[in-house]
Amino acid sequence: MDQPATAHGPDQPLCPRVPHMLYGGDYNPEQWPEDVWREDARAMREAGVNLVSVGIFSWAQLESRPGEYNFGWLDRVLAILHEHSIAVDLATATASPPPWLAHRHPESLPVTADGVTLSPGGRQHYCPSSSAYREAAGALTRAIANRYKDHPALAMWHINNEYGCHVSACYCDASAAAFRRWLAERYGDIDKLNDAWGTAFWSQRYDQWDEILPPRRAPTFSNPTQQLDFYRFSSDALLALFDMERDILREITPDVPITTNFMNFFKPLDYWKWAKHEDIVTNDSYPDPFDPEAHIHYAAMAHDLMRSLGGGRSWFMMEQTPSAVNWRPQNALKRPGQMRLWSMQAVAHGADGILMFQWRAAKAGAEKFHGGMLPHVGTENSRVWREVVELGHDLQRLDDLMGARTPAQVAILLDWESWWGLELDSKPSASLRLYDQVYSYYRELYAANVAVDFVEPGADLAGYKLVLAPNLYMARGGIAADLESFVAGGGTLVMSFFSGIVDERDHILLGGYPAPFRKVLGLRVEEFEPIAPGETNGLIVPGVSGSAAFACDQWRDEITLDGAEAVANFASDYYAGHPAVTRHRFGEGTAYYLGTRPDASFMRWLLDRAYADASVAPSATSPAGVEVTRRIHGETRYLFVLNHNTHEVQFTLPGPARDLLTGADSPPTIRLAPYGVAVLREQV
Ligand code: GAL
Repeated sequence: MDQPATAHGPDQPLCPRVPHMLYGGDYNPEQWPEDVWREDARAMREAGVNLVSVGIFSWAQLESRPGEYNFGWLDRVLAILHEHSIAVDLATATASPPPWLAHRHPESLPVTADGVTLSPGGRQHYCPSSSAYREAAGALTRAIANRYKDHPALAMWHINNEYGCHVSACYCDASAAAFRRWLAERYGDIDKLNDAWGTAFWSQRYDQWDEILPPRRAPTFSNPTQQLDFYRFSSDALLALFDMERDILREITPDVPITTNFMNFFKPLDYWKWAKHEDIVTNDSYPDPFDPEAHIHYAAMAHDLMRSLGGGRSWFMMEQTPSAVNWRPQNALKRPGQMRLWSMQAVAHGADGILMFQWRAAKAGAEKFHGGMLPHVGTENSRVWREVVELGHDLQRLDDLMGARTPAQVAILLDWESWWGLELDSKPSASLRLYDQVYSYYRELYAANVAVDFVEPGADLAGYKLVLAPNLYMARGGIAADLESFVAGGGTLVMSFFSGIVDERDHILLGGYPAPFRKVLGLRVEEFEPIAPGETNGLIVPGVSGSAAFACDQWRDEITLDGAEAVANFASDYYAGHPAVTRHRFGEGTAYYLGTRPDASFMRWLLDRAYADASVAPSATSPAGVEVTRRIHGETRYLFVLNHNTHEVQFTLPGPARDLLTGADSPPTIRLAPYGVAVLREQV
């Protein structure tokens, strides 16, 4: 496993050259005349900015012809920033190749599964397996690293940008060749591949490696294991590009931390694998203000994933908009106070810095209607600017929080490979989406202020009391044995349907579903089917409700109990009275199984039982829409109270506390304005 260049522990800042909560944004000075740059630096100081990402999309400016570098303008920008004590997260500038690359190397352009070549004119128009792109990107990275390795403003490296955002896989001939090399390494021998891919089916047996192609558009369903391996390969192909740049930077500047910005629950890239290759996890966060639950799934849940990807260490937000984005069909403004609230929410979930896209709102190009910290209107009479300055000053009061951890007793199992497998075609239901299933759990944990980590298969579960396994379709990496010993040792498990169905080759695990988990769950599933779209069934809880108090939809398992008891039975259809949700005492612990998708009220009811079984304690009880989380630094406990409502709320603190944002002792009951925030140090 790759070791981070900076193993930041609780006492070390994320970025040693900026020992503060990080604040700033993407800075694209190449879009502006030079006389604006000094004004930018002055305004950055006014806002409390201490870190900006520079050069992300400047390849064409830095290398206007192959091998001809123009660093003069970047030298001048970095000098001005340094003069103003603003550090730089310097980009390797490889995210958007200049037009000359595609002109000279048309084969470097990406090709879709349908055979369409994507043209230059936007960005990210490169095939991950193109040797022309790889060589040019490597040369540019080396030139930038050599030029700026000793620059006093250099604080961090920003490799590429949002890998895979527009092109996560390429199906061209170069990609086909690279896919074959990847397969040869994985399987060694073509018979092993034939076996893994089940090519005895539909006359798909391969005789030679050269016959193998990416899963290009075919007359009907492509081989599922071929598709699964292509997901694995495509994530690895981009990771190999990242590693290529990272190795150059490590060689030239071994002490400068390296990051690339992630995109929340981004299905194409296995972020568990990726996060181990970088020093700092960073994320781009764009919740939609029109979505009333955006602060839960697109924010809190994604923030918890980022903290978990780094093994619990702090991360930071690399991008958010101060106001609106430009890329949805309708682009809402963040409401007054909402940018501050959502920024503090990220800090509440483990972020040690907030950066935005972008510093100065563009006046030309596809993103000219995207918000900027310094908006088109300027700094005078600007709500956005006032909020940007206010946030900068707030963050300056929170340096003590840096490195503080978020203790969680609950873990959600998330496996990218299983996710890919689950959502491949030709399944009992085409509407199963892992993200939605994960969210159906997360939403209730969030509402109850229960802190949660995400974990990958193979993770040490010993520190958790409750493990949730939403639709773990693929059982791999010893997960069945791990879950058995977790429950046997006293842990509580909640698993949902269509788990443990296949191995890592996408081959069915025979003998009754979910074969590897039957023992711990105490049951057997003989058959399953989707509940017709739009229809629901009822759930009857024996001893609690005589008639159906809860509803369920989407799926139903035909469960035979084998040690487990029924917690709820289906209310209607020919399987009325059959178990829908079960509970099994196993060793010292308990395993629940959901053979259907229950409604939110049942999920809440069931999780309350699971918390009780597992002795899980929420951070606090709070009014609806008020989120309460904790971070802990040694003996010191920090409490965040976040009001996501559009009305004022009152909240009584668990004990005496100091308000870090006002610097004063807090009253026992605090009043929070709409979108109001309190960050408190609890006094023990
Ligand atoms: C991100 C990207 C930025 C900018 C931003 C706009 O996906 O990294 O460069 O395009 O979106 O919201």
